[in-house]
Amino acid sequence: MIQPRSWLFVPADSERKIAKALDSAADAVIFDLEDSVAPANKAIARDLLRKLEPRAAGPTWWVRINPLSGDQLKDDLEVLANSGIHGIVLPKAESGDDVIELAHRTGNIPIHAIVTETAASLFGLMSYARPEAPLAAMSWGAEDLSAALGASSKYDADGGLSFTYRLARSLCLAGAVAAGVQPVDGVFADFKDADGLRAEAEAAAREGFTGKLAIHPAQVEVINAAFSPSADDLAQAETIVAAFEAEPTAGVLSVGGKMVDRPHLIQAMRVLQRVRPTTGD
Ligand code: COA
Ligand code: MG
Repeated sequence: MIQPRSWLFVPADSERKIAKALDSAADAVIFDLEDSVAPANKAIARDLLRKLEPRAAGPTWWVRINPLSGDQLKDDLEVLANSGIHGIVLPKAESGDDVIELAHRTGNIPIHAIVTETAASLFGLMSYARPEAPLAAMSWGAEDLSAALGASSKYDADGGLSFTYRLARSLCLAGAVAAGVQPVDGVFADFKDADGLRAEAEAAAREGFTGKLAIHPAQVEVINAAFSPSADDLAQAETIVAAFEAEPTAGVLSVGGKMVDRPHLIQAMRVLQRVRPTTGD
């Protein structure tokens, strides 16, 4: 499967928003049973998800369950009886052990872990590289982290994210790549600011993230565009791969007047993987 570029959250107690999300161009929809659904509405939300008719096309379906430590888990996992659900989003994960613990209850269903939402989580980012875990993606969250840390703001005086949150973001990126799973950038909350979203998504794509969480359908197209390699990027990647295929024993080559060696080949192959399905998943 090609990695989703846009992961659109939708509160699972809203039939109207669920319908909109499923008709959107999002690559993945995350039905939320956690923070965006009030405790009194969780049962209604689960009921809606159980009854949702699987579709042949459209976004893949993921469900964000409540944290492992709470008392909602057993009820949340019952929605997995719906065969349309492709994967689980685990909030407030603190280490690879949490993913393994969930997988013991859910089998081989893919898991997307949100990995920077508690203070302790920042010390666990290298622990997700566990071959036995069905981990598919890791993303980071600043909102819950700032609440957990007792911060009055996530921002510096100049308006940028302060160091703690930039650290969390970079650790998520490196931790996901080290685990061999998709690195997914966090939410851009100001859904009316398309220019701000575009700048943030393009910066994330340059750094190595291959997708981004969304909270509003208006964010989907911007995110899809930012994480789609351009025609020039694809042509360049194909040229580099072809050059090494033509000379399999070469370590370094000249392509278009520039030196290319192994890191360039790896990067070119990554670009091509983003538009071509890989076998086996
Ligand atoms: N998925 C699907 N549809 C959505 C949506 C979403 N995430 N967010 C908004 N919409 C729909 C609205 O229902 C509305 O449809 P309507 O005109 O048919 O009623 C339309 O898109 C326009 O919405 P808008 O008026 O701009 O926003 P809003 O004030 O209704 O909602 C939020 C704003 C933030 C409450 C809403 O975007 C939302 O619920 N986002 C997801 C929150 C979430 O899941 N958080 C958890 C992860 S951080
Ligand atoms: Mg949250």
